[in-house]
Amino acid sequence: MANKDLGAAKTAKKDEFYTQWADIEREMNAYLEFDKDVFRDRVVLLPCDDPEWSNFAKFFALHFQEFGLKKLISTSFAPNSNPAIEEYEPTLFEVESPAYDPEKSKARGKKFVIDSTDVNGDGRVDIEDLRWQYLDGDGDFRSEEVTALREQSDIVITNPPFSLFRTFVDWLVAGDVKFSIIGNMNGVTYKNVFPLIRENKLWYGPSITSGDREFRVPESYPLTAAGSRVADDGSKYVRVKGVRWFTNIDHGRRHEPLPLLSEADNKLFNKRVGAAGYQRYENYDAIEVPTTNSIPADYQGLMGVPITFLDKYSPEQFEILGCADYTGLYGSDHLGIGRIGETWMQEYRKAGGRGHYTANMTSLVFYDQESIARPTFKRIVVRHLDPAPRKDA
Ligand SMILES: C[S@@+](CC[C@H](N)C(=O)[O-])C[C@H]1O[C@@H](n2cnc3c(N)ncnc32)[C@H](O)[C@@H]1O
Repeated sequence: MANKDLGAAKTAKKDEFYTQWADIEREMNAYLEFDKDVFRDRVVLLPCDDPEWSNFAKFFALHFQEFGLKKLISTSFAPNSNPAIEEYEPTLFEVESPAYDPEKSKARGKKFVIDSTDVNGDGRVDIEDLRWQYLDGDGDFRSEEVTALREQSDIVITNPPFSLFRTFVDWLVAGDVKFSIIGNMNGVTYKNVFPLIRENKLWYGPSITSGDREFRVPESYPLTAAGSRVADDGSKYVRVKGVRWFTNIDHGRRHEPLPLLSEADNKLFNKRVGAAGYQRYENYDAIEVPTTNSIPADYQGLMGVPITFLDKYSPEQFEILGCADYTGLYGSDHLGIGRIGETWMQEYRKAGGRGHYTANMTSLVFYDQESIARPTFKRIVVRHLDPAPRKDA
């Protein structure tokens, strides 16, 4: 895919991408493995989730008793407010309910609740005990009434609308809640997100670290990219690259140290870094580390690493100082990264470089082992908290 599809979804504000059960299960299981009581006595809010479509609500309803939840609240967004819904057909679940109202059905969001009440008296609490009502408004997560539900909740979990990811993160932070949400990995460089990463208030979840993920989309979505498919029952799916969980719930992976590279391992070192060793940036006092698996064990100074480093980041092993090419707090200016400069620019153009760089920019740049001028994509600047002793020290 499908970044093309995702880009198109963003422009058209078509935000209907339904998360697969297995993706939710893997992530929640990782939190439970680290802390089996992570959901116990907690109120969990799913603020972009109609249980008729969303696996989040079904998943937590199924495990309501096993996880020891106190309450599960899920809210949905009104069809009339949602540009992705061309024609709304209420389901039998809604139409057959005494609460059904054809006008409200289109214009209002809904609130679904499961608490300890065994509504149908079958001896257990599960999806059958779900109660629902129309909200006063359209269910926008920013509305007063959904915000009031956030205030009652301990944990917010969802795959929020892609086009409102930044706003959604601000909304979570304002509520001071635990959260786990799905977004694009490049979201870490947004200026409201990176400071949270730097301050260890937000990190990637453990269960997605590479490749793409499949989401179900509404029937009206055009399937333009490779990897899209239509299942036997007619449901449409697209594959989306660069998906990650963004969370502040602790998990085991972030306490495992990342394996580091030693120059003594000649063969591996030459393969990953090259015989000439790490290159220094032209405009900053740090070394370029080309891949996350080539971070030197014993380097005492600053290192520029790719964003994928965050998939392996352990706060006990590294300190994150900033993100080059991002100009807010903890960006290039904060780090003191110099301008690219005319000399490097000329060499870059001479070597056929066509990227949108100018001498005034502060992206990290260097010369590779063949002395060719190279820019970097975004780099996170890190240092070891406790580097291995250098053999020449
Ligand atoms: C990416 S989809 C994910 C749906 C569901 N959470 C899942 O993962 O299966 C985002 C959902 O947010 C809803 N939505 C869009 N804008 C919203 C808003 N402003 N407030 C609340 N929900 C919204 C859409 O209806 C859509 O179903």
